[in-house]
Amino acid sequence: MSDVMTVGIDQMAVYVPPFKLEMGDLASARGVDPKKFELGIGQDEMAVAPLTQDTVAMGLNAAIQLFDRADKVDQQRLDAISLVIFASETGVDHSKAGAVFLTDLLPIKQGVRSFEVKQACYGGTAGLQLATSYVLQHPEESVLVVASDNAKYGLNSGGEPTQGAGAVAMLISHDPRIAKVSDVSAYHTADVADFWRPIDQEYPLVDGPLSKKAYLDFFNDTFTSFLGLTYQTIADFTAICCHVPYTKLGAKALAPYLDDCDEETAKRLSHYYQQAVSYNRLVGNIYTGSLYLSLFSLLAHEPNLAPDSEIGMFSYGSGAVGEFFSLYLSKGYGQEIQKHRFAEQLTARNTLTIDEYEALFEEKIPTKAKDFVVTNDHHDPSEYQLKAINNGHRVYSNPKKR
Ligand code: CAA
Repeated sequence: MSDVMTVGIDQMAVYVPPFKLEMGDLASARGVDPKKFELGIGQDEMAVAPLTQDTVAMGLNAAIQLFDRADKVDQQRLDAISLVIFASETGVDHSKAGAVFLTDLLPIKQGVRSFEVKQACYGGTAGLQLATSYVLQHPEESVLVVASDNAKYGLNSGGEPTQGAGAVAMLISHDPRIAKVSDVSAYHTADVADFWRPIDQEYPLVDGPLSKKAYLDFFNDTFTSFLGLTYQTIADFTAICCHVPYTKLGAKALAPYLDDCDEETAKRLSHYYQQAVSYNRLVGNIYTGSLYLSLFSLLAHEPNLAPDSEIGMFSYGSGAVGEFFSLYLSKGYGQEIQKHRFAEQLTARNTLTIDEYEALFEEKIPTKAKDFVVTNDHHDPSEYQLKAINNGHRVYSNPKKR
């Protein structure tokens, strides 16, 4: 360990389910101008999860990629995992943490802590910040943070074009090989009725216009606070990543600041923002993981940014909590990002027709089912899958258990 300890993201991996819908097809089916989705919302495709891919299965499929590629150093850090944090707003149980399934089904040592965090899309950042503080206090240990969600608003709903599904897994350790998490952070909580899901509701309740306004207000609040706390200007950031419910919204948050800064900074931040949302355009909203999918997209498309480049990170979770913090890139981070593996997942996806999408969307586990078998896996090639519900307990395929 170096004299000055740094803590942050040592490894990260992303999983998307094997189906997608083209936004142009959704626009035609809903009688909407395709330009609204392509330009007004800024989305090209959205990921669709089959029944085999609930949020635990998707989280497992993201996390296992960290174990699959382990070299010697990775293995030491993976063996040092003593805490597993699962972040989700579409978890599978009101009581039991998704993290418990992960500790059981991944090759993780016995005797770890595990729990689930929830605050809408902010959960992934809550997990990352908790993990960072934990490793600062326990430098020899690592934390696995998994953010996984299936964003569904309902067929023909206002939110339908902003759906998506997927998971991001991050290993947090000392001397991280991807990025250090900043010591300073600006955050804010306020009770806002913009998007929430009472426990008896299948889909979230959303006030679309208020949700856009709240997102922009929280960006302004936390970003200006962060600049004040750090005595920085926007020109100090190499890039800024945002929570991405849809790609146009982060661009709207940045726009007034880019109008006000020097041309070179505006050009750089605008270019890197587009790189950072390139994968989000193809996946849609994955709630807790969206900001981290955007970070992954930036790092995959820009693998050679200078060491210590500062990446601004804006996290927003409706309800609402916002946080602005930053990451400092580690030397050689580009070699740690498995761009090709993710690109293969994206290109291997099956494109659904509207009828297939609607049929898949409506496949559900019957309410209050104590016993249920997933009879049609739709040829899901993913390693981990939900197979059944047995006496109320979810049963997953178990390919990697030691
Ligand atoms: N060509 C180009 N652009 C067009 C267009 C066309 N033919 N028609 C419309 N547009 C533009 C509109 O001008 C608008 O742009 P601005 O935002 O710049 O004004 C954009 O397309 C969207 O149009 P509307 O706002 O009229 O669209 P809508 O009424 O269908 O609602 C939505 C859009 C609010 C995002 C809705 O899909 C929704 O409620 N989604 C779920 C909630 C959400 O994602 N909110 C985001 C903030 S909340 C958050 O961040 C947490 C989270 O993850 C959920």
